[in-house]
Amino acid sequence: MVEQKHLGHKDTVNLGSYYTPAWLVDIVYSLIEKNASNAGDYCILDTSCGYGGFLRGAKTIGADIDEKAVETAKQTSPHGVYFNHNSLFKIARSQYNLGKNEKIIIVGNPPYNDTTSIIRNDIKKAKFLRDADVMSRDLGISFLLSYDKLAADFVCVLHPLSYLIKKANFQALGQFRNNYKLIDSVVVSSGVFSATSKLTSFPIIIALYERNLFGMDCEYIQNYPFKTNDNKVFSIKEYDTIGNYISKYPNHKTVGKRDAVAYFYTMRDINALKRAATFLEKETGNAVRVTKKNLAYYCYVDVFKDYISHIPYYFGNNDIMINNDCFRELEPLFVSRSAQKHPKLGSYIEARKYTGEEAGITGYFKELLGVHYVD
Ligand SMILES: C[S@@+](CC[C@H](N)C(=O)[O-])C[C@H]1O[C@@H](n2cnc3c(N)ncnc32)[C@H](O)[C@@H]1O
Repeated sequence: MVEQKHLGHKDTVNLGSYYTPAWLVDIVYSLIEKNASNAGDYCILDTSCGYGGFLRGAKTIGADIDEKAVETAKQTSPHGVYFNHNSLFKIARSQYNLGKNEKIIIVGNPPYNDTTSIIRNDIKKAKFLRDADVMSRDLGISFLLSYDKLAADFVCVLHPLSYLIKKANFQALGQFRNNYKLIDSVVVSSGVFSATSKLTSFPIIIALYERNLFGMDCEYIQNYPFKTNDNKVFSIKEYDTIGNYISKYPNHKTVGKRDAVAYFYTMRDINALKRAATFLEKETGNAVRVTKKNLAYYCYVDVFKDYISHIPYYFGNNDIMINNDCFRELEPLFVSRSAQKHPKLGSYIEARKYTGEEAGITGYFKELLGVHYVD
């Protein structure tokens, strides 16, 4: 892999300049070859090309906002056509001298930072202008929307799996999801990017989309069999989630203060739970009111956090999963384990140590996760 080495920390973060290892680019091309007949007839376009690591084939076009990256790309692969511009502004095929009927495949690894976290520095704000119809909180979503504006025949790019599986993100994909369908993919861990591996790993999908009259809906994604690079297969629909039993977010509008027996930190996804608190000492802006009736389910989440190292990275953006029938059978184990950790719960639940507690709970997680259980 050619690592990006000309930018300082701030620019690297702001431009999302984490370059892609060649073996991931190989996966992109194997997906294309498997699914697009006559792939050689297409023009390959990467609108965030960096040093041009994704540009392979007879006809390639690369563009990047980073002038030095484009210079390096030109030197490494001089046969290609290059542009140094902002690919999210005045998006049109004409920006690339591409005609309406030209067949194109967009490849690459667009930046996927949350634009609200751009570090202030000398990069001029004007450089980050975006067309109104590709505006989104996340730069990566803006890029996907730009591929739709360019009417690419195929799109084969890396992006966080959360764009597809988090409902709000999927909605934000707007015209992209109306006009493209996921036809093949491989999920890998963000940990494969050496520069980001210190952070909690999250799933990245290498996704091949085909332009399609019907696009894709939530249901399609929920049922989609995602495959990982180590041959695990999972779909989101397979799992029941905690949100079907309790509130994940502050619920003071529906649960009165007097009914609260405990407080619990807001639950986003599994990766958030890794870092977050569970039971809270007192009510805060992020607190969920726990009632006596549903306390056991919050104990479940508290124990789930202890077992998070057994959950694979690719479920990191999923909601907390539960097998309700198995849980109800083992409920006393979960509850007492949680009570041992949080003595204040003692007036509502008994902190008694059951024999076989650890084995019972481990057994539960092995059953819940099946082949996905991480030893
Ligand atoms: C994750 S890197 C990918 C680089 C290269 N394709 C690779 O994977 O090796 C993201 C690239 O997007 C570029 N970029 C960020 N915002 C851009 C924009 N608005 N227009 C064009 N390029 C942009 C960055 O300069 C960076 O080179």
